[in-house]
Amino acid sequence: MKISIIGTGYVGLVTGACFAEVGHEVVCVDADANKVRTLQAGGIPIYEPGLEDLVLRNVAAGRLSFTQSTADGVARSEVVFIAVPTPPNPDGSVDLSYIESVAREIAGCLEGYRIIVDKSTVPVKTAEKVAETVKRYRRTEVEFDVVSNPEFLREGFAIDDLMKPDRIVIGTNSARAAARMRELYAPFEAPLIVTDTNSAELIKHAANSFLALKISYANALSVICEASGANVQEVTRGMGLDARIGTRFLQAGLGFGGSCFPKDLSAFIQISDQLGYDFRLLKEVQRINHGQMERFVKKIEDTLWVLKDKRIGVLGLAFKQNTDDVRSSPAIDLCLRLLGGGARLRVHDPKAMDKAKAMLSPGPNLEYVEDPGKVAEGCEALVIATEWPEFGRLDWAAIRASMSTAILFDGRNLLDPAEMKSLGFLYKSVGR
Ligand code: UDX
Ligand code: UDX
Repeated sequence: MKISIIGTGYVGLVTGACFAEVGHEVVCVDADANKVRTLQAGGIPIYEPGLEDLVLRNVAAGRLSFTQSTADGVARSEVVFIAVPTPPNPDGSVDLSYIESVAREIAGCLEGYRIIVDKSTVPVKTAEKVAETVKRYRRTEVEFDVVSNPEFLREGFAIDDLMKPDRIVIGTNSARAAARMRELYAPFEAPLIVTDTNSAELIKHAANSFLALKISYANALSVICEASGANVQEVTRGMGLDARIGTRFLQAGLGFGGSCFPKDLSAFIQISDQLGYDFRLLKEVQRINHGQMERFVKKIEDTLWVLKDKRIGVLGLAFKQNTDDVRSSPAIDLCLRLLGGGARLRVHDPKAMDKAKAMLSPGPNLEYVEDPGKVAEGCEALVIATEWPEFGRLDWAAIRASMSTAILFDGRNLLDPAEMKSLGFLYKSVGR
């Protein structure tokens, strides 16, 4: 089938490349001329494992192309995906201005039946608003349908999540659109839920908020574990092996970040509020998440006594492993707090250093270090802030020897406490 994707960011590019891979003809549209030029020249503007190969292979096969023109994209496709950002407003509600302007743009160039699919994360009832907008701005009585098809991809695992999804959600009130969407997704083996647009939109916010709730639950348990001498990893493993609970997303640490969970949680709280329900459970999820970072920083302050002029190494800047994304990264938040206390940082991340520089400018108190084994050189303490698995494989004896005092704060419970103690570290992690 012929499809276009408006917005070639993380979600749009990965979605487009995966659809091309299964044989569809895809044109990715983006308003950013530089991004389009980079992609047309074979460059990949983001880091996502496997993405470069996938994009280049499908471009070479003639199934994937890039343009700046929405009209061109809409003309060349039957299904038009919207994958533009839905950033938070200062009060936590969702800024839908990009969605609205893309809906108007699509309306202006509709010349035949099109299925307009919203992939961006949006509040319930947005599909209805998109349909109203397209009706208002279309130039002729041309037919169209609007579908809500939320994405569930995790950065770092996005291709796998797309090629082998747990489920595919199609929200539409049109049988015609539902049949075409089933065809579009036929190459993917996964349960397919066809429902109304409002339910589909709610599934996304409900799922992300529940996952955030699981993480906050584990983080709250970590506080109890620390106070009682239990080990949170043992507790969550023992809980998670109950198939009704599941072991995933119960990793205690510095709290959740990224471009989705914090924003989607605030949005869902706002949406519920507007619908007349005070979702206090989710407010508590947020509160626990903030508290987790504060407790960790206090642990560092209490141990070092005074932060001012302390040299601290930091491993990890991305909001999680396998990505260069630093949006709402707990690691960046932690660095800012340590810098605010007067500490002098040496930082490293395998992929996110370039992007981090926009938020943490290098200077007398902040040095970017290429070699993770050297990040702690001469430091009084080292902090693990992101769960990159390769940090676990570093030569920890050599790192210990390179430090002026061997204090290790593991914000992601990545290392084995007994092993670190045997190497001579004063080792502190979360809930263990
Ligand atoms: C996505 C979703 O769309 C968002 O709703 C979800 O909650 C998180 O993931 P993402 O792909 O991460 O957003 O955004 P980003 O990487 O910023 O890419 C968006 C792209 O859309 C950018 O390349 C931007 O240039 C483009 N864009 C934006 C347009 O082409 N037109 C616009 O009007 C606005
Ligand atoms: C998330 C959802 O998982 C995905 O389905 C949705 O489409 C977009 O939002 P993403 O933000 O890419 O994906 O990352 P995710 O792997 O969910 O991690 C989010 C944050 O939670 C990270 O900061 C991570 O470090 C943290 N996390 C995750 C924990 O602290 N503990 C865990 O057990 C799992």
